[in-house]
Amino acid sequence: MSKSPFQSPRGTRDILSPESDQLRFLIEEFVSLLVSAGYGQVISPMFEDIAVFNRIGESTEIVTKEMFDFFDKDPKRPQHLALRPELTASICRAFAQHRPITPWKVWYAGPQFRYEKPQAGRYRQFLQVGAEILGTPDPAADTEIISLAYGFFRKIGLQEIKILINSIGDNESRKRYNEELVNYLTERSSALSEQSLMTLKKNPLRVLDSKRDEDQDVIAGAPLIENYLTEESKEHFKKVKEGLDLLEIPYEISPRLVRGLDYYTQTTFEFVSLSLESAQNAIGGGGRYDGLVESLGGPQTEGIGVAIGIDRTLLACQSENLDLDAQTRLEVFVVDTTGGREALLIADELRQLGIRTDRSFGGRSMKAQMKAADRSGARFAIIIGTDELEGKEVTLRDLRGDGQQITMSRESLGRDLLKLI
Ligand code: HAM
Repeated sequence: MSKSPFQSPRGTRDILSPESDQLRFLIEEFVSLLVSAGYGQVISPMFEDIAVFNRIGESTEIVTKEMFDFFDKDPKRPQHLALRPELTASICRAFAQHRPITPWKVWYAGPQFRYEKPQAGRYRQFLQVGAEILGTPDPAADTEIISLAYGFFRKIGLQEIKILINSIGDNESRKRYNEELVNYLTERSSALSEQSLMTLKKNPLRVLDSKRDEDQDVIAGAPLIENYLTEESKEHFKKVKEGLDLLEIPYEISPRLVRGLDYYTQTTFEFVSLSLESAQNAIGGGGRYDGLVESLGGPQTEGIGVAIGIDRTLLACQSENLDLDAQTRLEVFVVDTTGGREALLIADELRQLGIRTDRSFGGRSMKAQMKAADRSGARFAIIIGTDELEGKEVTLRDLRGDGQQITMSRESLGRDLLKLI
């Protein structure tokens, strides 16, 4: 077979079954959790005016290097647009536009786009689910967001995860800290990488986020923000931690965690998978962004949220050997060698009962249909040959285990299967 000249673009991939089923399963688990906690869905555009995303921060790589941007076709005033690299900025833009009643608790799911250097777990199009609460400064909202994300990871069975949290304080705390940090970094500027010297000019705090080897010694000795927090910020962070303690959610304080986006204030956190390579082991992250709505032309509104990388979460599930197919795998495969009428009726009847059922088409031989049944991953085959048809029976074969067969009444098949599955 000759290879097609067309491949999916670099950094993107076609996700086929069963991987696509597993991703959908993860998304559904997240959604059911969020719906049960009173969150409503927001479906926002895949692209926005690029200025919306510029608010993520002029010193973040997402904005400076990774935007997929383009102009629309209006010849008079072509608007500069970009594919969304994340959804928090769009949610805040939507809040400023619609002014919903607060607290506004929302969830979202969908693809994001970043022009990254592709590697395992790092794509140019990737899936995120996320949740945001707008319009409350209450630290209980921070705790709720962290506990929901933690609850999601536990619900799907991940064991090897770690929560890192930090507070980068309110504006006043950061102002005090920035002065100290700038002095410290400037004194050591000869030891810093060129990129960090540029970041130092735009947003000194984010120098702490540098992963470059040459910066690490300077970063290790930098003053810690916790010593510069205002009383209000200290109190806020204390309450978040108390909430997590109350819920018995384990976490680690990470005093240098600043995250890769500029809009954060107060609480920041990251979920790390210990079973993934360290370069791509962040499976989720978030924090407070009390100034973002205002920067997008809305009223001063507090916000807190989290986004989870679903592709990476799946990689973490795979490396922990979790069985994600259990709830999507076929339960029954109908093998009918009597012409197909029975397959049509039985598949319809079982599907209506919620039993995951498939069948083959084209009146194939018993051997070919049994092969298809085996390949389908179904637990049981229901076999109808002429003897069964005459006796108003079916044969049930266990396709896993030792291939045991029993005869069942055709009439009560649905009811009897429900007891078995
Ligand atoms: P983020 O840390 O940029 O935060 O992304 C969240 C998660 O998306 C990451 O932890 C990672 O799992 C996944 N992710 C990011 N980039 C890629 C990529 N290129 N390929 C695969 N997965 C990736 C945000 O996006 C913020 N909006 C989070 C937030 C919500 N903050 C407040 N509310």
